[in-house]
Amino acid sequence: MNESRNDATYTMGRTEGEEERLIQQSQLYDAVTRRFLKEAGLSSGMKVLDIGSGAGDVALTVAELVGPAGAVVGVDVNPAILATAQARAQEAGFTNVEFIAGDARTLDLGNDFDALSGRLVLMYMADPADALKQLATRLRPGGIAAFQEADFTPYRQMYHPETPLANKLIDWALGVFERSGAHSDMGFGLYRAFVEAGLPEPYMHFESPVGGPESWAGYQFVANSFRSMLPLIEEYGIATAEEVDVETLAERVRREVVTAKRPFALPPHVTAWAQLAS
Ligand SMILES: C[S@@+](CC[C@H](N)C(=O)[O-])C[C@H]1O[C@@H](n2cnc3c(N)ncnc32)[C@H](O)[C@@H]1O
Repeated sequence: MNESRNDATYTMGRTEGEEERLIQQSQLYDAVTRRFLKEAGLSSGMKVLDIGSGAGDVALTVAELVGPAGAVVGVDVNPAILATAQARAQEAGFTNVEFIAGDARTLDLGNDFDALSGRLVLMYMADPADALKQLATRLRPGGIAAFQEADFTPYRQMYHPETPLANKLIDWALGVFERSGAHSDMGFGLYRAFVEAGLPEPYMHFESPVGGPESWAGYQFVANSFRSMLPLIEEYGIATAEEVDVETLAERVRREVVTAKRPFALPPHVTAWAQLAS
């Protein structure tokens, strides 16, 4: 995609709070991921490589889909977060998952995987198409590549005059993602990445959790996301900690949504999968 750029600064930081935020994010997006991975053909007995496992949520969903006869290898550059993933796998009783620390693009893991999975990870890589090309070499003939990525481009269309705080949050989030070097348009960018990587044209889907009810878990997730992004938001001069005010943010968004009767859309995710020729 862009040969001269570097990998992004991990926009969401590497704190313990970020691990919790990833788990919370999963609770909001897992239904999409599970449906998508099943549709892509992940099933019992498969050996799957999960790229950028983080706290392990996608790897654990995959472990369930492939069952005890299958196996999952989860990879992440951040060894600290893999300790959490490992502990969660153990606690849930999975014996078919292992986690390996390292850069997924360069780790030598063999080339007999039935499928690759990855969520919110290509967006942090300098050249997603080239990364996908490297990663696809881990697949056996007939193997499946299945990736889910966020896309912030349609977000500006969601501005609404009665929700100034939501509009401001969208601006701040877009600003920090763009400045950090992440591909904020990775979701729709998946199509080009697959094709430029030499994979078949992918089957794609687009969706976003949207919340209106007072009890929606998304308000707290939004606040925690801004807690994770705050160091970069301040470093880049996008907003001050006082303006963001993470401690009251969930409540402020909730109040705005309820008063304006205008639901809040979380970042849209795009899913893409393709199967190699046998
Ligand atoms: C936003 S998190 C997503 C975690 C998980 N996939 C999920 O959806 O819950 C992205 C993860 O990708 C990891 N990552 C980024 N670049 C990577 C690379 N080149 N190889 C392996 N992991 C990478 C980061 O360390 C981070 O934990």
